Amino acid sequence: MFKYEDIVENIEKAKEIVQEATAILITAGAGMGVDSGLPDFRGNEGFWKSYPPMKKLNISFSQMANPKWFKENPAFAWGFYGHRLNLYRKTVPHNGFKILLDLVQSKKDGYFIFTSNVDGQFQKALFDESKIVECHGSIHHNQCLARCPQDVWCNKDEIVEIDEDNFLAKEPLPKCPNCGSLARPNILMFGDFGWNFSRSDEQDMRFRKWLKEIRKNSAKLCIIEIGAGEAIATVRMMSEHIAKMYNGKLIRLNPNDYKVDYKHIGLPLGGLEGITKIC
Ligand SMILES: NC(=O)c1ccc[n+]([C@@H]2O[C@H](COP(=O)([O-])OP(=O)(O)OC[C@H]3O[C@@H](n4cnc5c(N)ncnc54)[C@H](O)[C@@H]3O)[C@@H](O)[C@H]2O)c1
Ligand SMILES: [Zn+2]
Repeated sequence: MFKYEDIVENIEKAKEIVQEATAILITAGAGMGVDSGLPDFRGNEGFWKSYPPMKKLNISFSQMANPKWFKENPAFAWGFYGHRLNLYRKTVPHNGFKILLDLVQSKKDGYFIFTSNVDGQFQKALFDESKIVECHGSIHHNQCLARCPQDVWCNKDEIVEIDEDNFLAKEPLPKCPNCGSLARPNILMFGDFGWNFSRSDEQDMRFRKWLKEIRKNSAKLCIIEIGAGEAIATVRMMSEHIAKMYNGKLIRLNPNDYKVDYKHIGLPLGGLEGITKIC
């Protein structure tokens, strides 16, 4: 457990690192959205608190986030993803996003966002679309379930209505504009061999290019990680890997899972509070 004095000292250290950095990488998991009112899915209880019908059916997040439902029960599959799509569409990003945006825009070597969130909140908060990697895809994009030649498309004009009584999506369900087959969100699910990763791949290529540039410019890199959980540790591992490879300093903001290697800084704070204190 942290002592209060340690936290205060670490906040001061973090502030200094943030100020001195010339390049910022923001890495974020579901905890980044919690202060905007979004649920994280921390453990089964966390998932079931947000999705009580799944508790009744005894279905975990990893069982629900499975592409098989689109074949076996499309209304059930779109019930879950349509509900999340509607929720993320109406969410207003909390003020921490704006504080971060002002910070990163002031840095001479620029910034990048790496997130496993599919909710599109960084775009909504006006971060540059070309500086965002959504490593698990985006709920605001669809792909054809039949894998016809249609590219991934933005679904902003599609409406998915959910029957609140049974949590099933109502007809018509989203369809592929090219072949008329059922569409699915362009999100990486569990046991998902059909995910079209072309969009995420392009994002990743831009990220690699930026990393090369910051190395060439001997930039001082600071990584601010917010709300990345331990269960699916993609974001945490990326933060640690980039810190090691690019001699960066990592600041991990997480009220629960804040542990870091001694070289870095872990703060047991929520996203909004932590960002406000270190920026
Ligand atoms: N918004 C989304 O897009 C969303 C939401 C839930 C899950 N997912 C997906 O599910 C997987 C879950 O992984 P994950 O690690 O992102 O989520 P997770 O639910 O497993 O973990 C969330 C983390 O956020 C922390 N947290 C809780 N409240 C916080 C706050 N106020 N501020 C900062 N952190 C807080 C928790 O301690 C935890 O470590 C990912 O693959 C992701 O794609 C996405
Ligand atoms: Zn198609």
